[in-house]
Amino acid sequence: MEITNVSEYEAIAKEKLPKMVYDYYASGAEDQWTLKENQNAFSRILFRPRILIDVSKIDMTTTVLGFKISMPIMIAPTAMQKMAHPEGEYATARAASDAGTIMTLSSWATSSVEEVASTGPGIRFFQLYVYKDRNVVAQLVRRAERAGFKAIALTVDTPRLGRREADIKNRFTLPPFLTLKNFVGLDLGRMDKVSDICLINLSSNHPFTLPVCSPNGEIVLQTNDSGLASYVAGQIDRTLSWKDVKWLQTITSLPILVKGVITAEDARLAIQAGAAGIIVSNHGARQLDYVPATIMALEEVVKAAQGKVPVFLDGGVRRGTDVFKALALGASGIFIGRPVVFSLAAEGEAGVRKVLQMLRDELELTMALSGCRSLKEITRNHIVTDWDQPRVVPRL
Ligand code: FNR
Repeated sequence: MEITNVSEYEAIAKEKLPKMVYDYYASGAEDQWTLKENQNAFSRILFRPRILIDVSKIDMTTTVLGFKISMPIMIAPTAMQKMAHPEGEYATARAASDAGTIMTLSSWATSSVEEVASTGPGIRFFQLYVYKDRNVVAQLVRRAERAGFKAIALTVDTPRLGRREADIKNRFTLPPFLTLKNFVGLDLGRMDKVSDICLINLSSNHPFTLPVCSPNGEIVLQTNDSGLASYVAGQIDRTLSWKDVKWLQTITSLPILVKGVITAEDARLAIQAGAAGIIVSNHGARQLDYVPATIMALEEVVKAAQGKVPVFLDGGVRRGTDVFKALALGASGIFIGRPVVFSLAAEGEAGVRKVLQMLRDELELTMALSGCRSLKEITRNHIVTDWDQPRVVPRL
């Protein structure tokens, strides 16, 4: 069957992938209300297209943190891409680079910063989770710098892992033939190693199953939880606060994008703390359920930022029309998460290329049909949202 839109890759990925892997990629937190809402909210924004404008030439190029890219569509960090395809992050890096856009590599990638850099030139950002051990963080950031990464996307919405029930049921863990490649040598590359929290829980009668042996003979423990949730509980620093955003600037000169802001209050604090940009993100609805769709939170963040730093968005973007709507609400660009892992699973590098191409083509068409020849010409007046007008009749 010919693929004609980004969303079609999900069904193919579901068929191809082991259930544990598909569920990890697809799921959101708890009731998954925000997961649906991230996409549904786009359908409550309609166009106010302008006509009879010469749209024979459309320019989609833009600049992000000073780097020129071919379109305002970039790749969000998604962990463990080699579960989707043996080429994993390599394939994503090549596809992004050929499309002339930015790839963000996850801290929890199954390829290291050096390996991704070795795929060739390309503008790349590094997504950072802050570990309790700050030496680990400092080393990682230095390696990303040396490997030519251009910015740090600091994820701030994950002091603990959101409750993703499919992962709990599946006892999700990284398959034994893969590692979190950035941490190899730091002894943090495996998710099933005994962590601090496991030891604490062991002594307090946490319901562990029996220890099992990994293929290389290590004794590992399995918890009655998502393996990733236990890993996060053991390693990730829950004390992270705004002062750490400042601390990060003392160990790197790379610009810092704060990823996971969805309120005006936090947008102002991010700017005060020295952020070079803000990513409006709810982590693909995988953290706190019942937060608004990112497209609904975008405008308040944009207003609070007052043009001091660029504001980006991720969450639920599946169409060129979605990209246009985000730009009309003030985003400087968007990032995609799941479309990358699903297309990787379906067709490897060719799939990711196709996703980027389809979104590019759709955005170009949307611009033409709305009378916009460049991204600058996209304005708030090109859309109307169902929250623009006050409701006359209150919703019951
Ligand atoms: C993510 N996301 C994520 N974010 C992050 O900061 N570090 C990470 O390692 C990951 N890993 C990850 C894995 C998977 C499978 C998903 C689906 C998401 C969140 C990601 O960067 C982004 O915020 C969302 O994916 C955007 O929503 P969509 O495009 O998936 O709807």
